[in-house]
Amino acid sequence: MYSLLLILLVSIPSLLPRPVAAADCTITEFSQVSSVVASCTDIVISELVVPGGEILELDLLPGTKVTFEGTTKFEYYYWAGPLIRVRGENVHFKAAPGSVLDGQGALWWDGKGGAVPGKPYMIEIDVTGGLFEDIFLLNCPHHCVIISSTDLILDRWTIDVSQGNVGELGHNTDGFDVIYGHNVTIRNSTVSNQDDCVAINRGKGLTITQMDCTGSHGLSISVGFSKHSFLHNSVVDVVVEDSVLRDGANGIHVKTHTDGYAGEIRNVVYRNIHMTGIERYGIQIQQDYPSGNGRPVGNIPITNLTFSNITGTMTGRKSTPVAITCAEHACANWNWSGVFITGAAKPSNCTYVPEGFDC
Ligand SMILES: *[C@@H]1O[C@H](CO)[C@@H](O)[C@H](O)[C@H]1NC(C)=O
Ligand SMILES: *[C@@H]1O[C@H](CO)[C@@H](O)[C@H](O)[C@H]1NC(C)=O
Ligand SMILES: *[C@@H]1O[C@H](CO)[C@@H](O)[C@H](O)[C@H]1NC(C)=O
Ligand SMILES: *[C@@H]1O[C@H](CO)[C@@H](O)[C@H](O)[C@H]1NC(C)=O
Ligand SMILES: *[C@@H]1O[C@H](CO)[C@@H](O)[C@H](O)[C@H]1NC(C)=O
Ligand SMILES: *[C@@H]1O[C@H](CO)[C@@H](O)[C@H](O)[C@H]1NC(C)=O
Repeated sequence: MYSLLLILLVSIPSLLPRPVAAADCTITEFSQVSSVVASCTDIVISELVVPGGEILELDLLPGTKVTFEGTTKFEYYYWAGPLIRVRGENVHFKAAPGSVLDGQGALWWDGKGGAVPGKPYMIEIDVTGGLFEDIFLLNCPHHCVIISSTDLILDRWTIDVSQGNVGELGHNTDGFDVIYGHNVTIRNSTVSNQDDCVAINRGKGLTITQMDCTGSHGLSISVGFSKHSFLHNSVVDVVVEDSVLRDGANGIHVKTHTDGYAGEIRNVVYRNIHMTGIERYGIQIQQDYPSGNGRPVGNIPITNLTFSNITGTMTGRKSTPVAITCAEHACANWNWSGVFITGAAKPSNCTYVPEGFDC
């Protein structure tokens, strides 16, 4: 009995995986990335320089924690990117105070936007179960965050691409793009950029809350990229709330692509949104995207769209508070209350009038 216990006690340590010292799990050189990522579950990325043309590939073990320290810098290369790609289950990202992911966007910006490949996306998040906190993204070359995930929370991010305003060189610097999301929350985050603050393309169960957007093209839903899949053209059960938009082109923008396959936008709520200094549309909902030619197509109906407490002011000669361009029978059951946007140069105009709103 006694000796059996002794044998057990002696043999246990050799059964456990070799504990990995924290120092072995700190990445300071790009050459360390693949081995650390393959063996560690508590990783520190410290003052890393990522060479141009390389992805910081974080294909993580389940439950891995990653902490960014200092400046993570991405060197210039003309390619599609992304600069960072995260994959894994139940991963937890944190940034140490003062740390920054510097995309050095100014090296790519040329006032032209578009051009993929050429200007890399900054970070792709493709996880099941994830919490990403306090991340500071500086100067994305192109789109900043591409989300394709389930059960994900992004909390307290700062995306600062305000330098892209200089000479109007930064373009298509979307903040958060949800290309696929199931149960995804983005909250309490600040974006200063030159395209959508948030753009939702596909998903179910999405919450966008406490956003502070400056200079953007708005809190957007853009559906119809797929030419053959209803599911890919489906956005259902979305709440966008408690947010502020400052300056920029649009406040709220919902658009369906006339050249896409069938799809749906259903059960969407925008509430408690305040906007100031918006130049084009306070609220634009259009089924004639991208042409905007006034000939909407009903391939992607927009139903059960609730707006409440959407307020703000506009500026400039081109400003319109609300423009709704719906195809016949393709918009239904919209319930709006407390939508008051003032100071526009032009009147609102609507081909479909929501209940509770005068147009
Ligand atoms: C949604 O995702 C969060 C964060 O990962 C998770 O805690 C929660 O359980 C998920 N909810 C559902 C209904 O799966
Ligand atoms: C939002 O984040 C800031 C820090 O960026 C924090 O001070 C504040 O408490 C957060 N607010 C909420 C409602 O979580
Ligand atoms: C409309 O959307 C809201 C919010 O998503 C939801 O609670 C409600 O059940 C939906 N109504 C119908 C008839 O589906
Ligand atoms: C309306 O939204 C603003 C934020 O834009 C918020 O401060 C206010 O409390 C909201 N009002 C109601 C009645 O929820
Ligand atoms: C519209 O919303 C208001 C509250 O925001 C609610 O009282 C009313 O019942 C809703 N109308 C319909 C037709 O759902
Ligand atoms: C209505 O808004 C559309 C944009 O959706 C614009 O092109 C059109 O000129 C506007 N019509 C009027 C009469 O203001």
